[in-house]
Amino acid sequence: MRTSMPVMKPAPFAALLVSLLSACSTLEAPATRTAPAAVSSSTANPGNWPKLSPPLPRDAALEARVQDLVARMSVEQKVGQVIQGDIGSTTPDDVRKYQLGSVLAGGNSDPGGKYNAPAADWLKLADDMHAASMDMRDGRVAIPVLLGIDAVHGHNNVVGATLFPHNIGLGAANDPELVRKIAAATALELRATGFEWTFAPTVTVPRDDRWGRTYEGYSEDPALVARYATAVVEGLQGSAREPGFLDHTRVAASSKHFIGDGGTFEGKDKGDTRVSEAELRDVHGAGHLAALAAGTQTVMASFSSWNGQKMHGNRSLLTDVLKARLGFDGFVVGDWNGHGEVAGCTNESCAAALVAGVDMYMAPDSWRSLHANTLAQVRSGEIPMDRLDDAVSRILRVKLRMGLFEAGLPSKRSVGGRFDLLGADAHRDLAREAVRKSLVLLKNDRSLLPLDPRASVLVAGNGADDIGKQSGGWTLSWQGTGNRPADFPNAESIWQGIRSAVATAGGQARLDVAGRYSNKPDVAIVVFGEDPYAEFIGDIPNLAYQPGNATDLALLRRLRAEGIPVVSVFLSGRPLWVNREINASDAFVAAWLPGSEGGGIADVLFKDPQGRIVHDFTGTLPFSWPRTASQPPQNVGATGYDPQFKPGHGLAYARPAALGALPEESGLAHDDAPPGVYFAAGKVAAGWSLRIADASGTVEVVRTLPAGTRGLAVTAADHLAQEDARRLRWDGSAPAQAWLQSDAPIDLSREAMSGAMLVVAMRLDRVPADGFALRLSCGGDCGGHVAIDTGTAPLPRGTWFTLGVPLQCFKTAGTDLARVERIFGIESSAGAELAFSSVVLGDKADVRIGCTTH
Ligand code: BGC
Ligand code: BGC
Repeated sequence: MRTSMPVMKPAPFAALLVSLLSACSTLEAPATRTAPAAVSSSTANPGNWPKLSPPLPRDAALEARVQDLVARMSVEQKVGQVIQGDIGSTTPDDVRKYQLGSVLAGGNSDPGGKYNAPAADWLKLADDMHAASMDMRDGRVAIPVLLGIDAVHGHNNVVGATLFPHNIGLGAANDPELVRKIAAATALELRATGFEWTFAPTVTVPRDDRWGRTYEGYSEDPALVARYATAVVEGLQGSAREPGFLDHTRVAASSKHFIGDGGTFEGKDKGDTRVSEAELRDVHGAGHLAALAAGTQTVMASFSSWNGQKMHGNRSLLTDVLKARLGFDGFVVGDWNGHGEVAGCTNESCAAALVAGVDMYMAPDSWRSLHANTLAQVRSGEIPMDRLDDAVSRILRVKLRMGLFEAGLPSKRSVGGRFDLLGADAHRDLAREAVRKSLVLLKNDRSLLPLDPRASVLVAGNGADDIGKQSGGWTLSWQGTGNRPADFPNAESIWQGIRSAVATAGGQARLDVAGRYSNKPDVAIVVFGEDPYAEFIGDIPNLAYQPGNATDLALLRRLRAEGIPVVSVFLSGRPLWVNREINASDAFVAAWLPGSEGGGIADVLFKDPQGRIVHDFTGTLPFSWPRTASQPPQNVGATGYDPQFKPGHGLAYARPAALGALPEESGLAHDDAPPGVYFAAGKVAAGWSLRIADASGTVEVVRTLPAGTRGLAVTAADHLAQEDARRLRWDGSAPAQAWLQSDAPIDLSREAMSGAMLVVAMRLDRVPADGFALRLSCGGDCGGHVAIDTGTAPLPRGTWFTLGVPLQCFKTAGTDLARVERIFGIESSAGAELAFSSVVLGDKADVRIGCTTH
């Protein structure tokens, strides 16, 4: 319990941070240390970092309680506290038995395995977990479990929650007070369903927009990220200097990912950040320093490395800098099996991470073996007992500060069970305001905008009426895919917002995704952009939009050619090279990933029925916008910096300006396909080929159809569109196989580690008696195969479905995932027939098969 009041004077935290940072740049390195570390060092020098103390003063009574608890705990119990399991693999009984310190709900983990489980199921799960943690009938010390989830743009895993714009859009709003209110609203929605901790804010400073997590960052500008970090941490937790801090209407925050996640080489997720210590501190550390000053109770270690060393194993940064120098007294949580990536570690065993300073392992599915191994490592002395005690003390300190010991069931706390808070009007109004403020106007020739709502408006584009698409990744599922309109009861699509604005004013609005019309409209609004993705699945090789398949560009050009003025509303998780699309539009709006309140877009695009402008554009770019698809990373201050638009750019009705034609050279040698897509829309991806071979070893590259070899014929087939699929027909006369071949070996180990699956959209028409084997290999015979359609697990017949095989299964079966050359290898010696329309990496499938070898 907190008894003493904070001593620090309330001060503007940005100013505080600036003074800390400037103090730090004038700090002398202690005499015993040598010059600043070279760029290649992965050992930080604490003397190069500002000396901070936590905003909450030490509370003697609380510390005494921590010590007393630690003294009464068994080693098993202590080890339990430093481990977090995932609800997909952890039952309340496990929590009771192992006294796990925390349970998380990962992006794809839901009560009862239902991605759209109702709020009541979430709360029930929270109650069950909490009750189990407090039920120590055998006399053990009861310690409340801490329940965490990724509420990264609202309480985004739960049906009906308000979905705020993703961070990149909030960055465009440049309004710390707005994000403070959003964080407070998110905390209420979390607590209504029983959750106490969010893995937010992401204070990353993305520097290479090819990174699939760019949208989780507010800006490339460390100063903006720092201002937001302060506001969001205070919005989530309350102010550490005021009453109500961490009460049951607030949640614990997690400043993530510490440190350097946004600086990885070539924008590769989980990659290596090769920067000097000064850059690590001043660019990637800015948000963390502010979050610490605001009292964030947890910090999440980054998957990434710094100069070659994985952050989960970096003692100098986790312990010497973060805890000792920056005075962090909460706890460091690891990322999803992030400890397993430390050299010499596995998901099930990693003393090094705890020793380096991780206090709680995020061990979603690996927690059981990890518990056994960690226990053994403590007993053998490999993990010193005082390190374990320190980790446990930090976790207990946070739980005590949150009042969890006395809190009772989550459903019985102040807003527990208040499901009316999910998508509450006030929260949706706030989200809609955020959408309006996040929009950045890049072009408005001849002042086409604002539109007259009494006009005849055609609304087109596949983003117009798709709440999943406008919400992006981390929406009901990890990748944000696979949802239906009915999953968003408290939401409005962009089209619905336009329809209501136009209908109110007496105009005419029509939706036609493909942009067809019978009466020529006065104007077309085309909503298009990136499909949802998360983490490494969103990594791309260059910044081209729709490489090799510019269907949206074609739509814009067609409407223009028909004499219809075009307004483009572009949905994206990052700046992309869209010069051609901008040239093909009269007005162009970067709308990022707005979330549930699509109506905020019509608010700004249209005048009111009386012809007045109610909302002008105020959003400005939080990132540099590229001039070509192949430029080196564009960040203010970079050498050769030459973006199309700089951060801070954004037009407004009050400041009309014409934009000339933009250059249309992409800078790319050829249109690269996005990674993780091997066959889709009737085409084999660039860099890949479809091959077939018979027993004699004769290999045919299938360039035109039909094609064949002895025993196997390949023809075109239809799934969703004409000839978007391939049919393989074995006549049984000779064994034969087919596969997708890469021009160069690819490394899928990162993807496998994170649970990705090979997902094939297929239709099985005739299956050999003993089923099929799917092969993934490094060429020739090297590599493993996984049995599908075995007698015990038959697959659907004669109907299209998606089949998911975890990459990890191929690894178990012997494939070296670091050098994959063949994907989707399939063979038969008997008569058989199947068709497939896509082969991709993903995380969702109609049928997911386990790891049985053939
Ligand atoms: C992500 C984290 C997230 C965690 C739990 C990881 O893959 O990197 O940002 O908090 O999963 O879902
Ligand atoms: C989980 C996410 C997690 C990711 C790890 C997914 O299966 O649902 O929460 O972040 O794996 O990369």
